[in-house]
Amino acid sequence: MANDDRLITTGFREEDTEVEQSLRPHTLAEYIGQEKLKKQLTVYMQAALNRREPLDHILLYGPPGLGKTTLAGIIAAEMGHNIRITSGPAIERAGDLASILTNLNAGDVLFIDEIHRLSHAVEEVLYPAMEDFALDIMIGKGPSARSIRLDLPKFTLIGATTRAGMLSSPLRDRFGIQFRMDMYTPEDLAKIVKRSAKIMKVDCDEDGALEIASRSRGTPRIANRLIRRVRDFSEVEGLGRVNVEMAQAALQTLEIDELGLDETDRTMLSTMMTKFGGGPVGLDTLAASTNEDPATIEDVYEPYLLQLGFLMRTPRGRVCTRAAYEHMGLPMPQQNGAEAKNAGQIKMEI
Ligand code: ADE
Repeated sequence: MANDDRLITTGFREEDTEVEQSLRPHTLAEYIGQEKLKKQLTVYMQAALNRREPLDHILLYGPPGLGKTTLAGIIAAEMGHNIRITSGPAIERAGDLASILTNLNAGDVLFIDEIHRLSHAVEEVLYPAMEDFALDIMIGKGPSARSIRLDLPKFTLIGATTRAGMLSSPLRDRFGIQFRMDMYTPEDLAKIVKRSAKIMKVDCDEDGALEIASRSRGTPRIANRLIRRVRDFSEVEGLGRVNVEMAQAALQTLEIDELGLDETDRTMLSTMMTKFGGGPVGLDTLAASTNEDPATIEDVYEPYLLQLGFLMRTPRGRVCTRAAYEHMGLPMPQQNGAEAKNAGQIKMEI
């Protein structure tokens, strides 16, 4: 199945546009979870406001669907300025970025999603813009070429990436504030589900919200998608009320299990277990035998399976853990146990 067709994809789906806009919190007080981040951010924003200066540039990194764009919008609103949203792949040439930068007003937030995908030439324009609020423009070519400097309004750049490791270090170092966004706990996700249900005028009780939350892979985008699907079931097959039984029945029909794994996750785990004795198996081999793209496995399927402790990355490849075997209801081979244990030791020694 194409990854974006999965109900539990962390990627952005067309249906999310309307949902995310209507359900998106607008203030930091409404924003649930990420407590450490919120605490620090509140201090930095207040300090900048007191000094009447723009906020330092901020890098947000972590898995997709955790609300990086939402947070950037909140920051702009709380600072009392506008936000301009774009993405690394959308800025093709240096001139595209120059045009965006010269159209900002002082204090505005420029949000660049997938900032790790900026080209080298565009990054070069960004450095003086971030550091000195200046644009260096080359005039002429060859020996007579010279550069002139244009002043830019003092803006705040918020960069978002799912791959902090792929950012060049000169770019990373220019962000004064860097936050890693963590996956949400089921309790925080349940609060998000309850809040969304209230906005959508859906009657959803505590246990129903927690059931949806536990199957949302730590990701608000998925939680908001699942509450909509469960609402559909409750309106057609129930009394329009979302409780634990309704959530369980709907999600079972959608083939999303108690931990939020879908058919693709289970196929990947069972392929590893039945064809490769639970591993170690290399990424490319796994990709070929499951008909998936290696990058998709790495960016999309693996983060949650690693978070659950179902997979381990070892120097020799991926290994399924005992927890994964127990979840899949398959017996664990002896040798694989030793491999997983060794992997644990290697991890701990590092
Ligand atoms: N929607 C998406 N992320 C959210 C969050 N952290 N709090 C409230 N609503 C959200």
